[in-house]
Amino acid sequence: MADGRPAGQAIIDRRRLAKLIERETDRYATGHAASLRAFERAGEHLLGGVPMTWMRMWPGGFPLYLATAHGARLTDLDGNIFTDFCLGDTGAMAGHSPAQVQAALAQRYSELGGATTMLPTEDAAWVAAELARRFGPSHWSFTLSATDANRWALRIVRQITGRPKILVYSYCYHGSVDESFIIATPAGPRSRPGNTGAPVDPAATSSVVEFNDIASLERELATGDIAAVLMEPALTNIGIVLPEPGYLAAVRELTRAHGTLLINDETHTFSAGPGGCTLAWRLDPDIVTIGKSIGGGIPCGAYGLAAPLAEQILADPTADIVDTGGVGGTLAGNALSVAAMRATLEHVLTDEAFAVMITLADQFTAGVDAVLRSRALPWNIVQLGARAEYRFCPTPPRCGGDSHAAADQQLDEYLHLYLANRGVLITPFHNMALMCPATTDADVDVHTELFAAAADELNG
Ligand SMILES: Cc1ncc(COP(=O)(O)O)c(C=O)c1O
Repeated sequence: MADGRPAGQAIIDRRRLAKLIERETDRYATGHAASLRAFERAGEHLLGGVPMTWMRMWPGGFPLYLATAHGARLTDLDGNIFTDFCLGDTGAMAGHSPAQVQAALAQRYSELGGATTMLPTEDAAWVAAELARRFGPSHWSFTLSATDANRWALRIVRQITGRPKILVYSYCYHGSVDESFIIATPAGPRSRPGNTGAPVDPAATSSVVEFNDIASLERELATGDIAAVLMEPALTNIGIVLPEPGYLAAVRELTRAHGTLLINDETHTFSAGPGGCTLAWRLDPDIVTIGKSIGGGIPCGAYGLAAPLAEQILADPTADIVDTGGVGGTLAGNALSVAAMRATLEHVLTDEAFAVMITLADQFTAGVDAVLRSRALPWNIVQLGARAEYRFCPTPPRCGGDSHAAADQQLDEYLHLYLANRGVLITPFHNMALMCPATTDADVDVHTELFAAAADELNG
């Protein structure tokens, strides 16, 4: 576009959009008065008025206050009922409080007793074997978040390779991992805007390239400084950016050629199937990290090492991974967390459940796509297994930088508010919808109808 805006944003009448946002914001405030009161009261002692500052991301100026949540439904303090496609930004991909996880937690915490004891339970080995079956790496260890799974994996790859740097993708997100807050710009690598209190300039610890750009990757790997590439096989935190044909094979070939390890962070790309993209696309990483969803909403995370790496790190006399060497945590792998992971993997996020969830996401994607075509809206929707996301540009972006350029805060705000005011939630950070085993055809159709109505109002 001559004015520098992506094509998808050009057709929007901004004055009309601002009026629609105003209308929806008023409706949101009146329809969620109990949540607003609770939010105002909380401001006295909660930083930013919320228990965790990201919860300020919801549109409308305040978050809904949760009352109950089961399956794909949740209710707020005002008694409004929502169909939940946000699912805790993937943490509740198994659906809210699935019965089998409830039972496992009750058994562990109430009947048997003991959540944190610094002693293993047999569930842990079951979960490790199941993760190995699904994702490949043979030896697993547990954390309480995907962030920590990544942090500890990065410690291990540096120790094993003796190299200082980690390569990440521009506009990636891997949790609050210091090395990942770096973006590629025409003037070279830069700390990502907003990087709060960074311990060091990330350019000292990291290399950054754009996704799907083989030449840049090769150039960076050739420095011989890179311990590991930390990647999502498809970017999911800047819209969904899929790998182009041959790209992931090139990543594997180049990392091997340059003695660099490959870490697949499957925390979100788990949506691709029971073993994430790693299984679905027959990838062969050295390490897999995962968190969020595999505990049915209970804090958990895991990293898995290919056998030679596991042997190497255990045998390394200079690596202290059993005490104060920077890997591990008091509550990690606790009995409650591994009981939740076992119940989730054994009974809820099963191979069969994924088949249903992915079919629903096909339906979601086709519905949105039909709306976009029939209204000639130059936006696109991308699907990755059980998740789908719309983005405000005519064709799916090839890399994080392109996708970042297509962001549109006003459109996000309007669509999120429009949907929330009519009982549908999508994830607040972007326009992502995720299916859980309890999602239904009817839920998907409701979203499609509302999305069409919101688009029609935009067009006037
Ligand atoms: C790909 C990926 N990895 C890691 C994380 C970190 O997860 P957590 O915040 O649960 O530590 C996220 C969070 O969104 C993520 O998207």
